[in-house]
Amino acid sequence: MKPSDILPLYQATDRLDQVCRTLRHRFGDVAPVMLDPYTFAWLTLTWESTREAMTSPDFSADPDNWRDRNSGHVPQNSGIAAMLVRRDAARWRDGDEHRRYREALQAALQRLIDNGHVLHAVADVADRIIDRITPRGRADLIGDYAGVLSGMVLARLIGFDQDEAERIGDEMATVWDGEPAAAYQAWLELDARLHRLAAERRRRPAPNDVVSHLVHHGEHSDQEAAHQVALLIAAGYDPLTHLIGNTLRVLLTDDSLRRQLLSAGTDVESLLDVVQVHNPPLAVVPGRWCVVDREFGGHRVRAGDMVVFGIEATNRQLPPGTRAHLGWGAGPHACPRSGSDIAGVVAAHAVRRLITRVPVRLAVAPDQLERRASLAINGLRELPVLLNATGMEAAPTVPEEAPPAPAGAAEPPAPVRTGPARGWIGALARLLLGRR
Ligand code: HEM
Repeated sequence: MKPSDILPLYQATDRLDQVCRTLRHRFGDVAPVMLDPYTFAWLTLTWESTREAMTSPDFSADPDNWRDRNSGHVPQNSGIAAMLVRRDAARWRDGDEHRRYREALQAALQRLIDNGHVLHAVADVADRIIDRITPRGRADLIGDYAGVLSGMVLARLIGFDQDEAERIGDEMATVWDGEPAAAYQAWLELDARLHRLAAERRRRPAPNDVVSHLVHHGEHSDQEAAHQVALLIAAGYDPLTHLIGNTLRVLLTDDSLRRQLLSAGTDVESLLDVVQVHNPPLAVVPGRWCVVDREFGGHRVRAGDMVVFGIEATNRQLPPGTRAHLGWGAGPHACPRSGSDIAGVVAAHAVRRLITRVPVRLAVAPDQLERRASLAINGLRELPVLLNATGMEAAPTVPEEAPPAPAGAAEPPAPVRTGPARGWIGALARLLLGRR
């Protein structure tokens, strides 16, 4: 293969869907791409090749297998190299180590679903944000609603109180808005803060947060707890934001669907399923490393080559109504049941609550909505709307009450600040998943 055959995918973020179709036509199931000027990878483009790389033991999740980085071909401080490091967390390990980390996360998260904390957190946060943005009359539902909501809910589940999350947010936004090289520094700062949170919860456990559970029941060191929580932020924040965003987009550009939802003719959960298949929040997900020389999707792939999953390209080819999609992954590293359940509960409440509480309509023509320039995320840069404007149809009465606080809840009733999702969660997610 000549170097000129390898497409610089990072230059095509605004037309990824179209480019993936062209690549499939030219290369078949798997295509050679550059993720940045230094980083070569094989991009899976069909259900078969994506599933094979997710489930076969020939593909490891451990970045230490990455030949181009080990040989010094990829600089250590590139954004992608900073992200793909063998940390003490489920996503970067195989075998028994992976099982231990994954089971600890699953147990810590499942508890918060079972005892009502997830629903309580999203109900509280959603109402605070809606109260705050409605009087303004306009909002960007990505930056002002979906992003802030996802970040604040995850921060509460992890164990940060709201003030702390916002204080960290201010500092991290400053770091992040500087030069691109500051991305690595942002990671180091977050890592240090997560270590401090773990040490604090070791001394003084809180009744209902992930960090306390990992440290006291999962027998995690401070470093393991910090790395596992960083994984939750990276794995949860942006996908959740854009599952909500993509679903709101569908509702706001389809009047009849919105009317059906308001009259309870369709439920949000079914709509989320459809969005997750045909307009999934994840576009391209890194990565696995081949551990043997083998044939893959019609190509010779060498041990140490990186493989990335074309989730959006794969899902978009599936027939309507399919449940066998790969939006939650497959195999040992698939999104844990508790992760997809949290995403479902949070996204469904966030969408339903907004649409039923306040009349909302797009502030621009649908064809003016721009895709975010990211390899990793299929979502909008902004979703500008008018809220409660004069002459807009009144929403029907709100069909549900926010759930009562679960036992042992210690939620500080601080106001929620909104604005572009730029805080520490946004910073890390952008570091890990691409810039906005
Ligand atoms: C719409 C939202 C979400 C989507 C589309 C999504 C999708 C995925 C996918 C495709 C994977 C597999 C990645 C791979 O094979 O390398 C994954 C893994 C993971 N997800 Fe999710 N996810 C979402 C939300 C969440 C949330 C809210 C959490 C936790 C709070 C979470 C926790 C995780 C974890 C821990 C992993 C790694 C599992 C492992 O390596 O064993 N995810 N997710």
